[in-house]
Amino acid sequence: MRTENEKEFLIQAIDAFKRKIVVISSDFRILAANQHLIEMQGRDITGQICYQALYGLLFPCEHCPAQTVIETGQPTLLKNGCGTPHPEKLVCLYSYPIINQSSEEKEIDAVVMLDFDLPVLEGLEEKLYRTNAFLRNLILSSVDGVIAADMSGMIFIFNDAAAEISGYSIDETINYLNIRNFYPGDGAREIMKKLRSDDYGGKGKLKSCHVDVRCKGGEIIPISLNAAVVYEGDLEVATIGFFHDLRESLQMKSRLERTQMQLLQAEKMASLGKLAAGVAHQLNNPLGGITLFSKLILEEHDLEESIREDLNRILRDAQRCRDTVKELLEFARQTRYNIQPHDINRAVSRTLFLLENQPLFQNITIIKDLAPSLPAIPIDAHQINHALMNIILNAAQAMDGKGRLTVKTGAVPEKNRVCIEISDTGPGIPEDVLSRIFEPFFTTKEEGKGTGLGLSLVYSIVENHGGAVSVKNKTGEGAVFIIELPTEVKEAGSGK
Ligand SMILES: Nc1ncnc2c1ncn2[C@@H]1O[C@H](COP(=O)(O)OP(=O)(O)OP(=O)(O)O)[C@@H](O)[C@H]1O
Ligand SMILES: [Mg+2]
Repeated sequence: MRTENEKEFLIQAIDAFKRKIVVISSDFRILAANQHLIEMQGRDITGQICYQALYGLLFPCEHCPAQTVIETGQPTLLKNGCGTPHPEKLVCLYSYPIINQSSEEKEIDAVVMLDFDLPVLEGLEEKLYRTNAFLRNLILSSVDGVIAADMSGMIFIFNDAAAEISGYSIDETINYLNIRNFYPGDGAREIMKKLRSDDYGGKGKLKSCHVDVRCKGGEIIPISLNAAVVYEGDLEVATIGFFHDLRESLQMKSRLERTQMQLLQAEKMASLGKLAAGVAHQLNNPLGGITLFSKLILEEHDLEESIREDLNRILRDAQRCRDTVKELLEFARQTRYNIQPHDINRAVSRTLFLLENQPLFQNITIIKDLAPSLPAIPIDAHQINHALMNIILNAAQAMDGKGRLTVKTGAVPEKNRVCIEISDTGPGIPEDVLSRIFEPFFTTKEEGKGTGLGLSLVYSIVENHGGAVSVKNKTGEGAVFIIELPTEVKEAGSGK
C-alpha cells in the first residue's frame, strides 16, 4: 500500500505531466482528469460524459478506445484519437484498463486514457513516402542502366534501361538474379575488389570502368560502369551501379580508326605515287633509247651469235624494266581508265582462263563460285583483270603451286556493291606483315623475285573504282582477299 505521501507525489506527477490524462468509467463518465486537461478545457469536467465534454459529440466515437478496453480487457492504441481526425497531426490515444485488484474476477473499474500528438511524424512519413517515390521514379526513368544488389549479391533494384541493355526482364532479376551471374567469369568479384580499393575513384567508388555483362541470351557485351558501395556507418550494406552500353561507341571508334588508317594509307599511296610517276617518266626515255639502239645494232650489223645473244638479253631486260615502269605509272594512275558496264563474273572467268594454263597453276584446284544475276558494274575491265591477276598470282605463289584457289562473287546490296573473294590454302599472311602488304615496294620475296608493287597496284585500281580491298587470314587456312566494287559510277572512279 502506498503511503499518503506517495499518493500525493503521484498526483503531483500526473498533474505535472503535460499530456492529457483522463480516467473514464464504463459508462463514459469522467472520473478524474489531470491538471493539463483541465487547463486545456478551461473548466472542471469531472462527472461529465467524455465524448460530450471532450469532443462535443452526442454519441461515443466510432472506435471508442474505452469501449475496446472494456470489451477486451486489453490496453489499446488508437491512432488519430477520438472525435474528428486532425488534418495535420496524428493524435494517438493510449488506453489502459484499471483493474479492480480486490475483486476476484479482475473486473475493470475504469479506463485511463493518455494522448500523444504526433504532428511532425505524420508529415515526416508523408515526406519520406514522397521522397522515396521520387527516388524510385528517378532510378526507374534513368537512361543509364541502374542495378543494386545486397551483400549476398542478390539484385534488388533493376531499372528499365538495365532490362533493355541486358535482355532480362525486371521480374526475372529482382530477388532472383545474383550479380555474379550478371557479370561473366570473376567480373563481380573484380568489381568488388576495385570498389574496396582506393585506386578507382576513392574507397567505395568505381568510376567509368569498362566491364562485360552477360545478357540473358548469353551474349557478352561491354559496358561502362560507375559503381558505389552503400554503407550504413562502416558496414557495407549494398552496391549500386549505373551503366551504359558501349557497343555502339566502340563500333564507332573502330570505324573511325579504320577510316583514319585508310586515309593514312591513301595519303602514303598518293605521295609514293607521285614519286613513282616522276621516276617512271625519267626512266621511260633512256629505256626507249636502250631498246631502240639495241634493235638497230641487231638489225644493221652482222654480229657474232654470242653478241646477238647478249644484245637480246639487254632487250629482254629493258622490256622487263619497261613493264615495271608501266606498272608504276598505272599505280600512280597515270593511265587512262575506260569505264564501261561489265559483267564481273565474265571478268573473273577471263582472268582465270588466262592463268589456269600457266605451269604455276597445274597442281592448283580452282573453284569458281560465281553468284548468278549480278548487275553489270562500271569498271575498266582491263584494270580489274590486272588487279585480279596480281592477287591470284600471289595466292598461287604463296601455295607454292599446290593447293586450292577459290574465287567467289556476290552482291552486297546494303552497300550497293558487288564483291569478289579470293581465298587460297597457302600459309596465310603473318600478323606483322598484314598491315603492310598494300604498301608499294613491300615484298617478302627474295631480292629480284618481286617488286612489291603487285598489291599496291591492286589497292590503287580498286580505289580508283570507288571500291575497297581488304585482306584477312582464314583460321587454319590461307589468306582471303576481298574486293568490293560499287554498282554505280562514282565520280572519283570515272578515271581520266
Ligand atoms: N595470298 C597470299 N598469301 C600469303 N602472303 C601473301 C599473299 N598475297 C600477298 N602476300 C604477301 O604480300 C607481299 C606483297 O605482295 P605484292 O603482290 O605487293 O608483292 P610481291 O608479290 O612480293 O611482288 P610482285 O607482285 O612484284 O611479284 C608478298 O611478298 C607476300 O609476302
Ligand atoms: Mg605479287
